[in-house]
Amino acid sequence: MNEELLKLNKLCVDYKVKGGYLSAVKNVSFSINKGEIFAIVGESGCGKSTIAHSILHLLPEHNEVIKGNIYFKGSDINQFTEKQLEGIRGRDIGMIFQNPLDSLNPVYTTGFQVAEGIMLDNVSKIDAWNRVVQLFKDVKMPDAEKRAESYPHELSGGMRQRVMIAMMLARMPELLIADEPTTALDVTIEAQILNIIKELRDKHNTAVMLITHNFGLVAEVADMVAVMYAGEVVEQGTVYDIFDNPKHPYTTLLMKALPRKTKKEGRLQTIGGSVPRLTENKPGCRFENRCPYAMDVCKNQDPAEYNVTDSHTYSCHLGKEVK
Ligand SMILES: Nc1ncnc2c1ncn2[C@@H]1O[C@H](COP(=O)(O)OP(=O)(O)OP(=O)(O)O)[C@@H](O)[C@H]1O
Ligand SMILES: [Mg+2]
Repeated sequence: MNEELLKLNKLCVDYKVKGGYLSAVKNVSFSINKGEIFAIVGESGCGKSTIAHSILHLLPEHNEVIKGNIYFKGSDINQFTEKQLEGIRGRDIGMIFQNPLDSLNPVYTTGFQVAEGIMLDNVSKIDAWNRVVQLFKDVKMPDAEKRAESYPHELSGGMRQRVMIAMMLARMPELLIADEPTTALDVTIEAQILNIIKELRDKHNTAVMLITHNFGLVAEVADMVAVMYAGEVVEQGTVYDIFDNPKHPYTTLLMKALPRKTKKEGRLQTIGGSVPRLTENKPGCRFENRCPYAMDVCKNQDPAEYNVTDSHTYSCHLGKEVK
């Protein structure tokens, strides 16, 4: 039975910028069930990290306004106080950041930083350290004992990403938010990290929100996919819905434009034109200026959402006519 863990309902995130607001995330709604790998895919700047950070109120500049509901196990955590959110961070919802160097403290050893999280659960220092070494082995860290005593700058990108995963495994959250966990890594390391994430889901029924711009990863690991454009989810469905029967013109173009298998796969097709200015929050489809099928109505009316099947929806004025 599918059990809902996280549900976003009309999430909007506006950043306060010079002269007004930038609408980075607009009316985003989706649900993630227990044990499900849910991928969010889209070009750079489409709001993926903003969604990830807004869930735990981790946006660094504090210049944002978050509206809508973020239900976690039925409670709207968007209404939670900072203290209540602290109780959830790490323990219930873990996060692997896009750039692990930003979230590791340069002045402490990596082992100490992982042990800190374990000791929050009243574990002794020595037991915590032994646990850290075991976790480092679990995430296939080469030379685990030695690396636990290394500082973040002494590790490679792949090793730092493993530290982040070990940190997360230490608390075993029900939801893991992984923001581009493998972008900076080569394909072999990428495959290893993905295997760790898959194992986590298979063994512990952890749900994963996997943020990526790589359709290859999506095809390999995801159960569900949301395609984002300029702050909005334009299409979502199961991985089969999206790959076998893409409906939104943007999804089709994105699949041709984004890497599918390896990072070194020839020249990619690009999508002409650029993302509209998100500070001009006009009605109409945000993809209109780049869409090969654009019609007059697309300029001034928000598209309705169409259901292809129970699991598959997309928002486009072409409606059922899209081939
Ligand atoms: N603190 C901020 N203040 C103002 N604008 C911001 C801030 N953070 C992000 N933005 C803007 O919000 C939009 C969404 O950014 P976000 O980082 O969520 O995109 P992304 O999909 O994660 O991109 P990438 O794939 O490059 O990581 C972009 O237009 C970005 O410039
Ligand atoms: Mg990002």
